[in-house]
Amino acid sequence: MGSTDGDDNGDEEREPAKVAVVGSYNAGYVAEVPHLPVPGETVTATNYEEVPGGKGSNQAVAAARLGADAYFVGCVGRDRRAETAYDLWDREGVDATNVAVVDEQTGLGIVFVEEDGENEIVVSPGANHKLDRERVRAAADTIGACDVLLTQLETSDDAVEAAVEIAADRGLDVVLNPAPARELPESLLQHVDFLTPNETEARTLAGRSPDDDVDPETLSAELRDLGVGTVVLTLGGDGALLDDGTERVRVSAPDVEVVDTTGAGDAFNGAFAVALAEGATPEETIRFGCAAGAASVTTFDVIPSLPSRGDLDVTG
Ligand code: RIB
Repeated sequence: MGSTDGDDNGDEEREPAKVAVVGSYNAGYVAEVPHLPVPGETVTATNYEEVPGGKGSNQAVAAARLGADAYFVGCVGRDRRAETAYDLWDREGVDATNVAVVDEQTGLGIVFVEEDGENEIVVSPGANHKLDRERVRAAADTIGACDVLLTQLETSDDAVEAAVEIAADRGLDVVLNPAPARELPESLLQHVDFLTPNETEARTLAGRSPDDDVDPETLSAELRDLGVGTVVLTLGGDGALLDDGTERVRVSAPDVEVVDTTGAGDAFNGAFAVALAEGATPEETIRFGCAAGAASVTTFDVIPSLPSRGDLDVTG
C-alpha cells in the first residue's frame, strides 16, 4: 500500500498520503448512562466528560494518527471551545491553516453512551454552518494538492458541493461519508467516487425507512443507482461491503469487546481515506477501515480511541 520514493541508500521510503478533510468540529459533551433515555425520562449518568469531537475533525485526526498528512477545512467560533480544537490539531499534527474563526458558537455534540456501547448523539451545528462555498474555495489549492478528499454532512450543502467540485476538477478521489444522512442531489452524487454510509444512513439515502429490513447487497445496488461510483457500506461488527458495480468485496471485522461505538465510523473513514491515498486494493481499503473501526470501539470516547498503525489487526 502506498507511493514510494527511493532514498540515497536505495531503501524504499513511503511518502505520507495527503488527505483533505472538509467538515465539522464539535465540542463534545459525553455522558455514560446505564441505558439511553426514552422520551420523558431522566437518566442519571455515571460519568461525564467535555471532549473534542465532530465528524470532520475526528476523521482528520484518524488519518493523521495513521501517518497521513491531514489538512482540515472547517469553522469554529470565537470561544474557549475553539481553543480546545486548536490544541487538538496542534498535538495531532493536523494542518488547521484553513479553519476559519467566525461569529457563531463552536458546534456542539451531545452524546449519550450506554453500557453495551451503543449511543445517541444530538449535534448543534453553530459555526459549522458558516462553512460556505467561499470559505471552501479559499482552500482550493490545499485541497487540490491532496490525494483524497474526505467530507461528511455536518456542514452545509454548499460547503460539501464546493469541496467535491474542487476535488473532481483536480482529479482527487472523493470520499463522502453521508453522516448524518440527508437527501442529496444527483449532481453531487455523480462526482462522489466512494460513498461510505452505515446501514441506517444507507436506508435513508435509498429513500427507505431507517429500520427497513433489507440486505446489504440490495442496499448497495440501490445506492449505486443514485449515481455514485463505489458504495462502501459499513456493517458495524459484521465488517464492510464494497460494491463498485462490477465486483462486490465483503470483509469481516476483527472480533473485539465493545466499550463505546461513538466515532467508529470516523475511525473507519479516516483509515479508508489513508489506504485509498496509499494506492491500496479495494479489499485492503475496507480491511484497513474495519481494523480501525474495531480498534476504536474498545475504548471510551472518540479521540483517545483512534488507532495508530501498530494498533491495527488487518488479518480480518
Ligand atoms: O461521529 C461521532 C461524532 O459525531 C461526535 O464526535 C459528535 O461530535 C458528532 O459530530
